[in-house]
Amino acid sequence: MNQVLWKTLLKLRHEIGLSGDNFRFCQFNIDVDELPKLNKFSERNNSTSKQVVIFLGKLNIPHSNIAKIHVDANFNIVVQSTGNLAAEEIQDLKVYLPYCFLSLLARKEKRAISIAHFAQSLDGKIATFSGDSKRIGNEENLIHAHRMRALTDGIMIGSGTLRSDKPRLNVRLVEGVNPTRIVIGSLTETDCTCLRSISNEPVIVIGKEKQGVENEISFHALPPNGSKIKCTDILTCLYENGIHTVYLEGGAITTSNFLSESAIDVFQLHISPQIFGSGKSGICLPQINEVGEAIQFQKFSFEPVGNTMMFVGRLNGLAV
Ligand SMILES: NC(=O)c1ccc[n+]([C@@H]2O[C@H](COP(=O)([O-])OP(=O)(O)OC[C@H]3O[C@@H](n4cnc5c(N)ncnc54)[C@H](OP(=O)(O)O)[C@@H]3O)[C@@H](O)[C@H]2O)c1
Repeated sequence: MNQVLWKTLLKLRHEIGLSGDNFRFCQFNIDVDELPKLNKFSERNNSTSKQVVIFLGKLNIPHSNIAKIHVDANFNIVVQSTGNLAAEEIQDLKVYLPYCFLSLLARKEKRAISIAHFAQSLDGKIATFSGDSKRIGNEENLIHAHRMRALTDGIMIGSGTLRSDKPRLNVRLVEGVNPTRIVIGSLTETDCTCLRSISNEPVIVIGKEKQGVENEISFHALPPNGSKIKCTDILTCLYENGIHTVYLEGGAITTSNFLSESAIDVFQLHISPQIFGSGKSGICLPQINEVGEAIQFQKFSFEPVGNTMMFVGRLNGLAV
């Protein structure tokens, strides 16, 4: 992605996260030699739709060189004019611009907005039977995941993924701020030592009871509903702790729990051209008998990721 455009997206997300206001209009002047300038960011009326205007170049450029993008109340993106942005830049805006606005929705819903991501084989496997999930997905998918980490407040995994992968959960492949790490489950002292040794970034652990979690880690005990914590309670807890948007990076049990409770707003499935024929399925839900009982996506698209594709589906009426 064009670096100046990426800085613009980071700045827009930052400003929206700070202001929380229902602004109507914002205007970016992007000069390739400077940092993107937010020239105007004003409330004009109470409309929930927004207009993002992007100048690529100096302010006194012809009108036809200005890109105008309309963002409606459901975060649908309509490109009204492409200005002097290249087709690739417009595609990047279509994919990433909506996520910049999600903290407004979180404030309205009073819960964190969740975006789940998996890299999976053609037959829906996210790891081999022994738990190996490295190298599913291409380099572009990794860069995408790091962009998403930079565009969200928190990155969340289940305890199984922590033990199996020991992921760093930070932003390395693009410019951006590291999100807060969030782990769900019953952690042991060894897990906590592992979290601390991987990185210094803050960690939130959400579990049924405080076992083994040491003082430096922010622990939140939530009462279970049966054997599990309600995922909607997790999203409310995160919101109350300043996490407005969360990127859920698996594994299967955790993501399936969220999906079964309709607690995923956007689902990103990177499809890798491999067949495992065995291994761990990404999604495990109670058996259904009729195709009509399947989870349906109200809106979806298939986005190019290098030479592969990513399914992006919206649940809960959210159009991203
Ligand atoms: N390909 C990919 O994109 C990808 C991404 C991530 C992971 N993976 C792979 O997935 C595998 C791990 O997945 P997994 O399904 O075994 O484990 P997981 O989903 O990472 O973790 C499951 C654990 O999380 C806790 N948990 C999740 N939801 C909960 C809830 N609502 N209430 C209470 N606790 C909850 C429980 O912990 P406790 O049992 O401790 O209470 C549960 O046992 C690994 O092999 C990893 O490599 C692949």
